[in-house]
Amino acid sequence: MNILGIDTSCDDTSAAVVQDGQKVLSMVVTSQDQFHQKYGGVVPEIASRKHLELIIVTIQEALDRAQLTLDDIDGVAVTDRPGLIGSLVVGIAAAKSIAYTRQLPLTAVNHLQGHAYALTFFHELTFPHLALVVSGGHTLTAIIDQDWRMTIIGHTRDDAAGECLDKVSKMLDLGYPGGKIIDQMAKKGNPNAFTFPRPMIKDPSPHFSFSGLKTAVKVFLENNEKNKIEPFPPDVVASVQEAVMDVLVVKTHKTAQDLNLSLITVSGGVAANSRLRELFAHKAAATGFRVLFPPPEFCTDNAAVMGGLGFHQIRNHELAGLELNGKARVSMK
Ligand code: KG4
Ligand code: ZN
Repeated sequence: MNILGIDTSCDDTSAAVVQDGQKVLSMVVTSQDQFHQKYGGVVPEIASRKHLELIIVTIQEALDRAQLTLDDIDGVAVTDRPGLIGSLVVGIAAAKSIAYTRQLPLTAVNHLQGHAYALTFFHELTFPHLALVVSGGHTLTAIIDQDWRMTIIGHTRDDAAGECLDKVSKMLDLGYPGGKIIDQMAKKGNPNAFTFPRPMIKDPSPHFSFSGLKTAVKVFLENNEKNKIEPFPPDVVASVQEAVMDVLVVKTHKTAQDLNLSLITVSGGVAANSRLRELFAHKAAATGFRVLFPPPEFCTDNAAVMGGLGFHQIRNHELAGLELNGKARVSMK
């Protein structure tokens, strides 16, 4: 069964064709970074307009790369939540049009579940396991069962980890998307040069918080400017990155321990981070936990995971109709 996956939840326009939930026949991600860069973050209005311009060519490119036409497609899976409403509606309109005109089953995919699904393309997984989904919009841990259902355990009370990195990058005028730039720059810096707070690291709850860290960096930079101190920028970003990744590793590990789950998967844009991968590897070696990541291009937003998860949903008759609409948020309960 070939499923056409579509994701336009934020600022990447993506389409993919996936066979039987497992084999990625094609995956196209048309990045809009160049249009948002000068604003230091995603501008929802621009994202929505660019999705409109890019969606048809992106879908066509996904079909071409798979050497297929719409005649070979057996179902359509589209992200309907969570995301920017103006962005979601573009992918949803395209998916509904294709499903309606071709009389194909349509299914609506949760973007966060999609991130966690990326692991299955690359690893043998056991269920249930704990997924850490960490991106620009979300930071959460969830139990994933064998039907790919997600029970959220911990979530951020304010900013997401990626959002914190993006804002710090903006404060330092390093560019967008900040997480990737900080990852590269931090390699030249000392992660112990400065000690930034690790919010909620000792809190017994499974939740996260990153806005205090962002504020601490802001105050640190203001004080330096006042006192005419110019710290080596790679040292600053390496130290901030260390604080973010330390919290993610310690809290996720504790949650897995509390739930008696021995497999942890890490997905979402921040999962591409090289230091996060190193720290989790150290922790896994010390504790015996199994920690798995997808390759970086499957950490950031992509429609292959929609095509994969969509296959299972369509098989389970979890279908959507033409009334399907985007939802900005999902319940964290
Ligand atoms: O999953 P994603 O593509 O979109 C959302 O669903 O939000 O994640 C984007 C986030 C951004 O905050 C970006 O800065 C971050 O992922 N990111 C990284 C890296 N690559 C992307 N953060 C840390 N290290 C990276 N290498
Ligand atoms: Zn995402």
